[in-house]
Amino acid sequence: MFARSAARILAAPSTRLFSASAVNQIKVAVLGAGGGIGQPLSLLLKNDPLVTSLSLYDIRGAPGVAADVSHVDTGSEVKGYAADQLDQALEGVKVVVIPAGVPRKPGMTRDDLFNTNASIVRDLAAAVGRVSPDAHILVISNPVNSTVPIVAGTLEKAGVFNPRHLFGVTTLDVVRSARFLGQVAGVSPKETRVTVVGGHSGPTIVPLLSQNPYGKKVTGEALAALVHRIQYGGDEVVKAKDGAGSATLSMAYAGAKFANALLRGLSGEKGVITPTFVKNPLYADQGIDFFASNVELGLDGVEKIHPIGEITAEEQKLLEACLPELKKNIEKGKAFVA
Ligand code: NAD
Ligand code: LMR
Repeated sequence: MFARSAARILAAPSTRLFSASAVNQIKVAVLGAGGGIGQPLSLLLKNDPLVTSLSLYDIRGAPGVAADVSHVDTGSEVKGYAADQLDQALEGVKVVVIPAGVPRKPGMTRDDLFNTNASIVRDLAAAVGRVSPDAHILVISNPVNSTVPIVAGTLEKAGVFNPRHLFGVTTLDVVRSARFLGQVAGVSPKETRVTVVGGHSGPTIVPLLSQNPYGKKVTGEALAALVHRIQYGGDEVVKAKDGAGSATLSMAYAGAKFANALLRGLSGEKGVITPTFVKNPLYADQGIDFFASNVELGLDGVEKIHPIGEITAEEQKLLEACLPELKKNIEKGKAFVA
């Protein structure tokens, strides 16, 4: 589904950049594979031709999920690991996706998940640092604005932090923006790709709608309503699920979409650019050293961080509201590790 370029790669095995050996070496682990996101994400990764081996880990249920997913008729190998097999699950992995942790219930903010998820993410990051320190780590667990600095701090402590290899997955905000703007403009979401910068919670989600030709035409109350829907899309799902969790299926889609973009970059495809929450110099002078912006993905992960580009006065105001909240979230994550 996400592999238009992958199909091209497989059809042209003699192309130097996309050599079969590069493709063959991509083993992906999902930590939290038994969960609401983990299960459909594992299925979608099984369907990605760039994934050649899938390692599924959870404190419960991963061997069952692996047995199930392994019957899908694509070439990748799938293996499930039980609670006491984390290190084995991480052996030889190039990419680790982490959706482990508790989701929100109505009335909660993402930050309310911190107390539970911070230690889950820290312990998983420590294991990655110990067993596969060169792996690319994709953090889905909330609150992303804090869990990403927690992973960075944990790896830093272990002396193995590589800022090119750590990504907070903010793709669901990009997916929602394209979908919601597409609905407002009455066109296909293919036409309404939007760069979303900042972080991943309420006011820290800053969609740069003016940079899309259809987004540029949305103004006034319609613009305010669209921005609000993008910033609080997660709440819409939490409310509708009524205590049964938060977005899982759209998140699995977004996670697989981002993983595919990273894998294409790792496989040598050029020009793969997508927003993601990374160690970022754009606002570092204000003490905000993690930030989501357009990132070019390459053979070694983060290849180039793009500037914000031209934005409107309204978007500037959104950014001003984002920065102090984001700073607080990042500092909270760092303090937890320190
Ligand atoms: P879930 O409860 O359905 O699944 C979480 C899974 O994590 C469970 O299977 C659980 O057993 C597992 N788990 C818990 N501790 C673990 C550990 N130490 N090691 C391995 N696995 C462990 O929750 P979900 O709906 O899949 O959501 C997971 C996380 O993703 C939540 O924190 C949620 O807020 C977040 N999320 C993020 C985004 C995003 O855009 N980044 C979107 C949706 C959800
Ligand atoms: C989302 O945006 O859907 C996720 O971050 C889950 C949540 O808690 O809203």
